[in-house]
Amino acid sequence: MPSTNSVCFLICFFVIFNALHVLSINLKPLALDCGSNGGKDEDGRTWESDSKFLLPTDSTQVQAGYQDPSLSSSIPYMKARIFKSPATYQFPVKTQQRYSIRLHFYPSSYSNFNASNSFFSVVAGGITLLSNFSAAITCQALTQAYLIKEYSLAAMDPEVLNITFTPSTNFSNSFAFVNGIELIPIPEIFGTANLVGFNDQTMDATTQNVQIMYRVNVGGQYIAPSNDSGGLQRSWYDDSPYLFGAAMGVSFKAADNVTITYGELPEYTAPVDVYKTARTMGPTADVNKQFNMTWLFQVDANFTYIVRLHFCEILFTKVNQRVFNIYVNNQSAQVDPNPADIIAWAGAQGAPIYKDYAIIVNDKPGDDMIQVDMSPSKPSKPEYLDIILNGIEVFKMSDANKNLAGPNPQPSDLLLKAEREPKRTFKPNLHIIGSAAGGAAVFGLVAALCIVVYKRQKHLPGTETHTSSWLPIYGKSNSHTAASRSTSQSSHLSNLAQGLCRHFSWAEMKQATKNFDESNVIGVGGFGKVYKGVIDGTTKVAIKRSNPSSEQGVNEFQTEIEMLSKLRHKHLVSLIGFCEDGGEMCLVYDYMARGTLREHIYNSKLKTHLPWKQRLDICIGAARGLHYLHTGAKYTIIHRDVKTTNILLDENWVAKVSDFGLSKTGPDMNTGHVSTVVKGSFGPALNTNLPKEQVSLADWALFCQKRGLLEDIIDPHLKGKINPECLKKFADTAEKCLSDHGIERPSMGDVLWNLEFALQLQETADGSKRGTSTNEVNDGLEGSSNNRNHSQRSEVEINEESDLSTTEIFPQISNPKGR
Ligand SMILES: *[C@@H]1O[C@H](CO)[C@@H](O)[C@H](O)[C@H]1NC(C)=O
Ligand SMILES: *[C@@H]1O[C@H](CO)[C@@H](O)[C@H](O)[C@H]1NC(C)=O
Ligand SMILES: *[C@@H]1O[C@H](CO)[C@@H](O)[C@H](O)[C@H]1NC(C)=O
Ligand SMILES: *[C@@H]1O[C@H](CO)[C@@H](O)[C@H](O)[C@H]1NC(C)=O
Ligand SMILES: *[C@@H]1O[C@H](CO)[C@@H](O)[C@H](O)[C@H]1NC(C)=O
Ligand SMILES: *[C@@H]1O[C@H](CO)[C@@H](O)[C@H](O)[C@H]1NC(C)=O
Ligand SMILES: *[C@@H]1O[C@H](CO)[C@@H](O)[C@H](O)[C@H]1NC(C)=O
Ligand SMILES: *[C@@H]1O[C@H](CO)[C@@H](O)[C@H](O)[C@H]1NC(C)=O
Ligand SMILES: *[C@@H]1O[C@H](CO)[C@@H](O)[C@H](O)[C@H]1NC(C)=O
Repeated sequence: MPSTNSVCFLICFFVIFNALHVLSINLKPLALDCGSNGGKDEDGRTWESDSKFLLPTDSTQVQAGYQDPSLSSSIPYMKARIFKSPATYQFPVKTQQRYSIRLHFYPSSYSNFNASNSFFSVVAGGITLLSNFSAAITCQALTQAYLIKEYSLAAMDPEVLNITFTPSTNFSNSFAFVNGIELIPIPEIFGTANLVGFNDQTMDATTQNVQIMYRVNVGGQYIAPSNDSGGLQRSWYDDSPYLFGAAMGVSFKAADNVTITYGELPEYTAPVDVYKTARTMGPTADVNKQFNMTWLFQVDANFTYIVRLHFCEILFTKVNQRVFNIYVNNQSAQVDPNPADIIAWAGAQGAPIYKDYAIIVNDKPGDDMIQVDMSPSKPSKPEYLDIILNGIEVFKMSDANKNLAGPNPQPSDLLLKAEREPKRTFKPNLHIIGSAAGGAAVFGLVAALCIVVYKRQKHLPGTETHTSSWLPIYGKSNSHTAASRSTSQSSHLSNLAQGLCRHFSWAEMKQATKNFDESNVIGVGGFGKVYKGVIDGTTKVAIKRSNPSSEQGVNEFQTEIEMLSKLRHKHLVSLIGFCEDGGEMCLVYDYMARGTLREHIYNSKLKTHLPWKQRLDICIGAARGLHYLHTGAKYTIIHRDVKTTNILLDENWVAKVSDFGLSKTGPDMNTGHVSTVVKGSFGPALNTNLPKEQVSLADWALFCQKRGLLEDIIDPHLKGKINPECLKKFADTAEKCLSDHGIERPSMGDVLWNLEFALQLQETADGSKRGTSTNEVNDGLEGSSNNRNHSQRSEVEINEESDLSTTEIFPQISNPKGR
């Protein structure tokens, strides 16, 4: 029997040995670029080869065939490792240490491997992270090019962590793949959480294995891994995509003299930028007390979640100045008589604090959401009726089977349909001929879209005008825009933009356009002329050539390249490349065979009339493009110049949003003290030849809508062809978009949803009435005394922009060419 001393010695020996063993191998964050030798990513972070952690196995190193422009960096996404049979990565780890695991997937095609055929499971430390997982389906459903799955495993006993990839046996030729793996030792981030819906009950979360579902910086901007606190390399995203309903509230940033003081809270909890920015309801107590600010997150059913709310009072200093109730999934989380009072909890202004709420999400219909509601507490009689929130994290906890995997998300039917769309060819209805005015309703909506885009901007339209341009372009020049985008103000394009764009030589440009022959000019703007051209023998393109005398040319040229090179979406016009040669500059775009939406609505020389469903499709396409700009890209992008001339149509009538010269990226958007002046041209469609009340189409349509007379002013070619329910949904949506107060206007996501719903109403009606005529729109209106007048109105052409004399209504506009 050994003496107590020797036992002590042995224990000491093992403790020291363990520590040395682990330190020598792996206590630093590890980033593996799978299937590659490694390198540095766009953020300057080093990724190393995965080979030395892979147990002997059959695997293939492959290179992606295509680099999606929305990839944040080519490392680790352009290379992958592919497994045809189960394969294990083995990492030496420290016992009693929590780890973060991030898996990076870019479902592209890799030589002979098409990621659409890949279904697999991933098990780490005995926990099932993914099963029957398809990165391709998941990315398609989320309309993303790549995805990052993030997990945090509780401290465990073994000194090795196995991560095993197993191709699914249920699909022939299935394989597993991975582009990047990160393994980061992290402090214990969990304690006890309040169990929502069970009075005063708490649960211990320290032993939980979790998947990180969401991590958002409320009221703030994207925070890159390299700017995270505690070296935890987390990304924090903008919260606006998760705001539900029309209420955006007000986002703001702490004044310079407010310092964030962590006190007992460890700094790794969240970076200063999370606590320095927040969202509140706004200054109007009467409005605030009537509603909840709501954030909505899609999650998998049948799991328990921890919702972590980060708070820091950065405006007020005293207890009972701002007191509010918190609900999670319609259940009381923190409500009267125990409402939230941040100063009371944290003790001071600038002191961060967080609260964890555990919530069980069952599998009742429609029940796959985490909904966080906050509203001011009235019984506490606080000085201000308002709420505040700085950050949200949502963690999914593993279930009793040590499982964290959910099903693959289902891409919506509409999305699948939209993807098939390009193959559909449009047959113009040649029976409908006539001298035509435009589709009032469509233009109304486009005007409405404009206004949705201006949603977060407080000022009325300014006085800036510019000439209209034909193509993807900001033909108009606008020095303020260029100046306000100082984030990328360097005179060189970022490496990323350079890498993603094709460089053309000046000779290629001259050849493509037959030496810039005037007969190839298809548009003219302040920036210069736009030419039709052909590159690579057969590819039709539109080439925008800079006007060497344009002062702002360089900046706007760069804005457009920087913006467009990183964006790729079916409903955004795509930039093929650029040419920079001495003083000359050109941008090269996909050629849009059917020109602008405006031409199809107003040009009476085109003898075809867009049918209603197609107009709706175009609206949905444009809305989808804008929704992507607002929420899908790394930064929120506000277009600021949406109008029918900036919605282009390709040969399959797919709508593409163009002209990013005036757009603005998110990081500035939410800080509250940036320029909020609306840019671009006037949104409303105006015709001064009409009676005063009809001059502005948007106002006139609203007037008619309120009196139930909307049917009277729709395009005569559409009369009787629109299902009344569909029209109502469409008009109600447009009306909401035209609300005077930003808070009442829907988000682009809501607009999109409503338009798709309207389309379904139309399709259902068409389907059920095939062969019978749908005349309801006219029913009961025929012979009404107003009818004739209104139809007459819509037959008046709003054709040439120069016909519109806007100065009569908006005398501050000096240039009558501007709309
Ligand atoms: C990959 O497979 C999907 C579905 O089978 C198919 O639609 C796609 O075209 C394929 N991609 C390539 C590059 O072969
Ligand atoms: C890790 O995997 C290897 C090879 O399959 C196995 O021998 C080992 O026991 C595993 N270790 C743990 C802790 O699961
Ligand atoms: C294959 O399908 C069967 C039943 O259809 C299922 O039980 C099993 O889990 C599936 N295997 C994988 C790896 O998905
Ligand atoms: C990190 O923050 C600094 C200061 O706010 C900023 O300039 C930099 O661009 C950020 N880095 C990344 C990768 O976003
Ligand atoms: C910060 O400055 C504002 C005015 O600029 C002042 O009202 C406020 O009291 C100051 N706060 C602190 C903590 O000094
Ligand atoms: C949730 O659990 C129930 C009961 O076990 C099951 O019927 C249902 O299919 C599960 N839902 C999901 C999305 O896994
Ligand atoms: C909360 O209640 C509203 C209104 O009854 C309902 O629409 C919503 O689906 C509920 N949310 C959840 C997560 O149960
Ligand atoms: C806020 O939401 C909660 C939970 O759904 C609800 O009980 C409460 O009545 C709402 N408050 C207001 C002002 O709408
Ligand atoms: C695997 O995923 C596919 C696609 O989501 C689904 O159709 C199939 O039913 C799943 N199989 C199992 C066994 O869950």
